[in-house]
Amino acid sequence: MPIIAVNFKVYPQVMGAGALRLAKICDEVASKTGAQIIIAPPMTELSRVAAEVDIPVFAQHADPARVGSSTGHVPLEFIRESGGSGVIINHSEHRMGMADIEFLVKKSKYLSLETIVCTNNVPVSAAAAAFNPNYVAIEPPELIGGDISVTSVDPSIVSNSVKEVKRISSDVAVLCGAGVKKGEDVKKAVELGAEGVLLASGVVKAEDPKEVLLDLLGC
Ligand code: G3P
Repeated sequence: MPIIAVNFKVYPQVMGAGALRLAKICDEVASKTGAQIIIAPPMTELSRVAAEVDIPVFAQHADPARVGSSTGHVPLEFIRESGGSGVIINHSEHRMGMADIEFLVKKSKYLSLETIVCTNNVPVSAAAAAFNPNYVAIEPPELIGGDISVTSVDPSIVSNSVKEVKRISSDVAVLCGAGVKKGEDVKKAVELGAEGVLLASGVVKAEDPKEVLLDLLGC
């Protein structure tokens, strides 16, 4: 079954109690179908959500900050302590430099946190794979939040990212995202060699997120 990673972002639907509501739906679908669903709630809801669900809860971002005198930053140790099991790094909406990405991937491994490193093109996918994260997620920024899936608009960015990532490390799983909304988008992602998808608006803004998740999983 494909991996479905749902980035809740900070859409109004997941403000406050909405995050836990959606997290519980994802949890229920995962337990009923046996699918691997990862969720990334807003940072402010991370510990509340992590305490209530069994599926992996990732932070949407982490800062390369050390524990101590650092104001407003989120170090990896605080994510782990909040019940997080992983972290999204270098999302298009929260870009980072290579040195910071490397620091975060390395330190996450040390802290037993999983990592999804987002990338915007094939060379960046290859560079990210060299750090050996758990996942590289290729997402062309211009398609994020839109209605047409990367798998239809730019299938070669997915297949070439898969080729490059696997050439560097077969241990790194590839996800793709941007505009993914339906089961057929996920099916195409898998045909292109990806292990799953990273998506947001298709689930978070849906009237019936459960129905969308089941469709994405081909159930
Ligand atoms: O992190 C997932 C994201 O950037 C894709 O967003 O709304 O196009 O599924 P969306």
